[in-house]
Order: sequence, then C-alpha cells, then structure tokens
Amino acid sequence: MDYILKTQNLCKLYKNKKAVNGVNINVSKGDIYGFLGQNGAGKTTTIRMILGLIKPTEGEVFLFGERIFPGQNAHYGRIGSVIETAGFYPNLTAVENLEIHRRLMGVTNKSYLEEALEITGLTDVRNKRVKGFSLGMKQRLGISRALLHKPEFLILDEPTNGLDPVGIKEIRKLIQDLSMKRKITVLVSSHILSEIQQIASKIGIIHEGALLEEIDFESLKKKSRSYIEIKTSDDKKASFLLEKRKITDYKVIEQGVIRVYEKLNESSIFNRILSENGVEVSEIRVMNDTLEDYFLQLTGGSFRIQS
Ligand SMILES: Nc1ncnc2c1ncn2[C@@H]1O[C@H](COP(=O)(O)OP(=O)(O)O)[C@@H](O)[C@H]1O
Ligand SMILES: [Mg+2]
Repeated sequence: MDYILKTQNLCKLYKNKKAVNGVNINVSKGDIYGFLGQNGAGKTTTIRMILGLIKPTEGEVFLFGERIFPGQNAHYGRIGSVIETAGFYPNLTAVENLEIHRRLMGVTNKSYLEEALEITGLTDVRNKRVKGFSLGMKQRLGISRALLHKPEFLILDEPTNGLDPVGIKEIRKLIQDLSMKRKITVLVSSHILSEIQQIASKIGIIHEGALLEEIDFESLKKKSRSYIEIKTSDDKKASFLLEKRKITDYKVIEQGVIRVYEKLNESSIFNRILSENGVEVSEIRVMNDTLEDYFLQLTGGSFRIQS
C-alpha cells in the first residue's frame, strides 16, 4: 500500500489540555480522506502538525514514506493546503494575488497559474478584485493558490465553512474532479457529516483530540444495518410472539419499541400475527441505521455532528 501520509501517536499539548491525543492517520494514494470532527475536536491542530507549522508535543509524521521533522522537509513542495480561510490582498485581482504566490513558490511556468484558475472555475473573474468576491469564490481562489505548484497531495481544512448550499456543492464537485481527473490525493476536514459522507473514500473521526475510528467508506456502509421497527402497546407479548416465530435477532430498544434485524421482508406477516393475537401495533416499518446513528454510538452519544 502506498501511503501518502501517516501519523504515529501524534499529540499536541496546550498548557494542560491535550488538543490532539495519540492520533494515527493513514492516507493512501488516491484517497479522498474525510477528517471529521466537531468544532474544537483537534482537526486544525493535527493539520498544522502535518504541515510542520507547529511542533508536535509527541509523535511522528511521515509524508511520502519519509519521517518529517518540522521546518526541514523537502516534501512540502508536493503538498498544497488551505487552512481555515485563506487570506488575500483585497485590492488586487485574483490573478495578481496568484502571481505573488507563484513567485514566492518559485513556479516558473506561468501556464500553471492559468490552469489553477481554470480548474477552480475562476478564469472569467481573473481580473476582478478579490474584495468583490463571494466567500465561495475566495475559497476557490484559496484552492487555486494551493494548486499552483501542482501538488500531489492537497489538504483542505473545512473548505465549505460558511458557504451556502450552492457554494458547498461547487467545492464538493471540485474535490471530486481533482481526485478523479487529476489524481490528486486529498485530505479534507469538516464538522458536517453529510458533506464528508458524499465524497470521502475513507473517513477518520476525531473526537476530543483522539481519533476514534478510521474506516473506509465501503466498510462503513456495511455497518449501517436495516431493521423492522415495531411500535406496540405490549412489547413483552410482542417479543413472545416473535420468538414463537423463531425470531431471535431483535431488540427492545425502549418501552414499546422493538427492532427486528432479520426477515426484513416479513413485516406484514409480523403485523398480522401481532394484531391477531391482540397486540396493538401503532407503527411497523423497515428502517436504516444511519451513519449518524453509528457515529453517535461510537462517541457514546456525545458527538453531535451537523448533517
Ligand atoms: N494555540 C492554541 N493555544 C491553546 N489552545 C489551542 C490552540 N489552538 C487550539 N487550541 C485548542 O485545541 C483544541 C482543538 O482545536 P482545533 O484543532 O482548532 O479544533 P478544530 O479544528 O477541530 O475545530 C481546542 O480546544 C482549542 O481551543
Ligand atoms: Mg479547525
């Protein structure tokens, strides 16, 4: 397996608070890695350590297979990043802002700049001043700047923060294009589950500084189970009747609510049997455990992610 990024036991201590606590991240070539966690979970701090902007209290970062020591890494030229919101000179145009960066980065080929504008859909507004840009346009200009030196690995910290649904969709499409068409490996952080869910090939969940789970999207989908939910006036009698029908994989999740995890096509039969035996059924339907349920379970119910 080709790892682009690996962290081992990454920790950052601020005063006595562990902002990041023993994080092991594994990003493989070609991944869109969704780094998910609520505000204050430690996403930005982790990303800053990966980029060598702050020093880990403990732990190691490996990029492209090599151990990284903050400030002395030759690989940063292979990485592009936008952390939180990118800053620009408001009175300069998009192209002028990028031009400053191009020189700073020592990118000699000017066509890279045009290409970066084009990928992010900003060619038409290239000569407009940044102060007239919407937040979505500024975010895309930030990504454009991060792409200027043709990185292999792109790190985006909450790129959709504060955007409206149209802006969010644009960024999502852009990330997918960068991954599919340009073969760029991406790490994207967010506190919004639905956003990550729609694009990530792998998800890392950070909660109170610790990485609770790292899982590829396909396995995650398998973890979301389907079941028949039965709401009844008498769960004891209903359970008895289910067992009589050889149903064993079920749970009474609260008073009057039963979830049956097998024979999902028999909900109408269950309904009939229960009614015939005098058990009142107010509701019976097949449902899906959502990913949100799964995350809530993972964090002991304390993880409230916007979706
Ligand atoms: N420079 C700092 N000094 C002290 N505490 C910090 C500093 N930066 C971040 N923190 C704290 O570390 C925790 C993680 O922050 P952060 O990495 O910004 O979270 P996220 O990006 O997931 O919202 C928070 O509790 C935050 O207040
Ligand atoms: Mg942050």
